[in-house]
Amino acid sequence: MRFEIKYRDGMGRVCLLEINNKKIETPTIMPVVHPNPKKQSVPIDFIKKLADIVITNSYIIYKNKFLREIAEKLGVHKLLNFDKIVVTDSGSYQLSVYGKIDVEPNEIIEFQERIGVDVGTILDIPTPPDVDKEKAERDLEETLRRAKEAIKLREERGYRLLLNGTIQGSTYLDLRKKSAIEMSKLNFDIYPIGAVVPLMESYRFREVVEIIINSKMYLPNNKPIHLFGCGHPMFFSLAVLLGCDLFDSAAYSLYAKDGRYLTETGTLHLEEMKDLKEFPCSCPVCLEYKPNELYNLDEKERERLLAEHNLYVTFEEINKIKEAIKEGSLWEFVEKRVRAHPKLLEAYRILKNYMEYIEKFDPVTKKSAFFYTGIESLYRPEVLRHKKRLKRIKYNKVYITNISSKVERPYSEHINIVKTDVDILIKHPIFGLIPYYIDTIYPLSQHEAPELYDFEKNINDRFIEEFINWLRKKIGEENILDIRSYNYYTSLFSEDFDSNAYRIRKMLQYQYGYDILEGVNVRVIRSKNTGRLRKVLNENGDLLFSIRSHDNFLIPSKLGAKLLWEKIPFPKYRVVVNKEAEPFVKKGRNVFAKFIVDADEELRPYEEVIVVNENDELLAYGTNILNGVEMREFNNGLAVKVRGGIYE
Ligand code: GUN
Ligand code: ZN
Repeated sequence: MRFEIKYRDGMGRVCLLEINNKKIETPTIMPVVHPNPKKQSVPIDFIKKLADIVITNSYIIYKNKFLREIAEKLGVHKLLNFDKIVVTDSGSYQLSVYGKIDVEPNEIIEFQERIGVDVGTILDIPTPPDVDKEKAERDLEETLRRAKEAIKLREERGYRLLLNGTIQGSTYLDLRKKSAIEMSKLNFDIYPIGAVVPLMESYRFREVVEIIINSKMYLPNNKPIHLFGCGHPMFFSLAVLLGCDLFDSAAYSLYAKDGRYLTETGTLHLEEMKDLKEFPCSCPVCLEYKPNELYNLDEKERERLLAEHNLYVTFEEINKIKEAIKEGSLWEFVEKRVRAHPKLLEAYRILKNYMEYIEKFDPVTKKSAFFYTGIESLYRPEVLRHKKRLKRIKYNKVYITNISSKVERPYSEHINIVKTDVDILIKHPIFGLIPYYIDTIYPLSQHEAPELYDFEKNINDRFIEEFINWLRKKIGEENILDIRSYNYYTSLFSEDFDSNAYRIRKMLQYQYGYDILEGVNVRVIRSKNTGRLRKVLNENGDLLFSIRSHDNFLIPSKLGAKLLWEKIPFPKYRVVVNKEAEPFVKKGRNVFAKFIVDADEELRPYEEVIVVNENDELLAYGTNILNGVEMREFNNGLAVKVRGGIYE
């Protein structure tokens, strides 16, 4: 199996997943198909057009003499007439509904291997919500025992079957954590999060979110996560944001049986829609039929067409989510979706409590601007990271001030009067404090917000107070001045002060946490057309850094990379590769995860890093795709997109 991150946002990721030479892109949805075509509401030929992975139930096949014979003789792919990836469930669902089933845990593993399933599932015990803790613990112990047995059986017999190792623990977060820790020790291929269906059905989304996070935090990052039984598109984006990669949907068909029409924000009853002139969707079904026409069809036909529509919107939502990840607008996408229902918004608000963890996975730069969509945006990882990175700057003398929200951003490009080595920190309702000299960096200028209510503006007061306290300890009370208006800056003008060079120095402190230009004389070039900062040269006129226009990150040249290597102590901002990779990386080839021996654990995705060997000799420089933690876990895929090697 191969699993590689291609694009990312939040904890969400677009990945390549390859199973038995069949490649798919995640996040994706696995339609649930019934092994008996007569019981399947939508023909498999239709499913094939949308899906390249499906899930069916091995227990149903096992219990049906006719289906079982075909599967044993021809394999599950022929039985379903589907030659792409086939995942099977084990009968756990039947166990949760009927209380007992008629198969032994390892018997169903053997059977899944025998019928040629791509990914099988252990016979885990889906413990319902709110049971006694003792019961949840007992069930979990049994699931863990079965998990170990299944892995042992696979090893002993040399099975090729990949396995789902489901996380259980009911609504007890400490049990979910324990489940994740124990299951991680076993070599499962995919980790489903189980027994969330009853919670989903009763709109207990907040608990689902807590279960996902408390499982995900202790699961390996290099394995796909499947949210078992979540088929409603309105929850997908939030689950993807938290790192879920796979979904299964029986909902498309179950809802159709019940006359229900799925949308990305909820479910409608066809009966209530029959007086609408048009459907609010442009899938082939909704283009062909008017609501009353569809409503008046005979039952079987109506059910099939409704199921088709439901499947279209399900895939459409997944496609939109993938695009949002690529654009760096997944947070905005989720913030839009969660406003479809207060229970979703409540679930989203819980993320605030986990933002320290989530921030580690969130890219430091994005294509899209940061949109403030409501008070929840104040707790996003971009804001949290800025507040932490503010402490990276070396302050001398600080003025704290307000600026009218009418002043155009970036301030530093519109208030030209400031020419001083005083650090001016501008109070800001979203980011808390914005240092005047670095305010062109993403997201400090790349954000949009409405004029906030007064109470929203005050939310950062505590942060500002704490930050000033920190500053007091650092530089002393006498070096901090709280001033009211930026007009005061006129007195900060000094003709021969090179504020451009000073700004670049501050920007590098913020980007790396070290004073890269200490003792280095530089010349800063602005664009002739736009007047914007463009290039940083050394005394000889050689390029050290270019300033990337969309986010104002400083992008090192080879000389710049050498400077970073000199000024930043090991292992900070470094990715360490083995001997085998060294000659290739030096010539500027990309760094793949399998060659990594170590990395700065604090690296966030999309930073500008240096690549070194085990003796800390500089080899190359580039942009990291994986964060510092993932660098150690992943064994395939791109880890650093190299800009240049030192031998190039
Ligand atoms: N389908 C929905 N939930 C579950 C679960 O918890 N375990 C299994 N095996 N299948 C499921
Ligand atoms: Zn439609």
